[in-house]
Amino acid sequence: MKTIAILNGPNLDRLGKREPEIYGRATLADLEAQLCAEFGSAAKLDFFQSNHEGELVDKISALADAKIDGVVINGAALTHTSVALRDALAGSGLRAVEVHISNIYKREEFRHKSLTAPVCVAVITGLGLEGYFAAVRYLLK
Ligand code: DQA
Repeated sequence: MKTIAILNGPNLDRLGKREPEIYGRATLADLEAQLCAEFGSAAKLDFFQSNHEGELVDKISALADAKIDGVVINGAALTHTSVALRDALAGSGLRAVEVHISNIYKREEFRHKSLTAPVCVAVITGLGLEGYFAAVRYLLK
């Protein structure tokens, strides 16, 4: 069975409470339960959320050693700032799809730049939570 990791960065633990007009009312637990319901029989899903850059870097390193089949990453604000996250993905040899719930290109200019996008196979931005489903579906193909 394939293993896909779903990584979420800073403040995504507050999904459902945080700026619901942008990110919606579903919680991270709701999202994870929905992904399990959809893909649980086809894949092992490894969920990880952290507000700390180094913890995400450590997790990517562990996933690289485990040679899993793909990563869905919403690096949240770290997308726009973190060379460390980019280097971790680039050096991991893992296939990663970057997901953003909101359309980062419709928002403030500082969100238009993603440091991680060039080391991912694709970026899905603005589809809401559906982006996570599309990314897992793609990685399982
Ligand atoms: C986000 C977009 C980022 O700019 C922001 O910092 C987030 C969430 C999204 O999913 O739309 O925290 O990654």
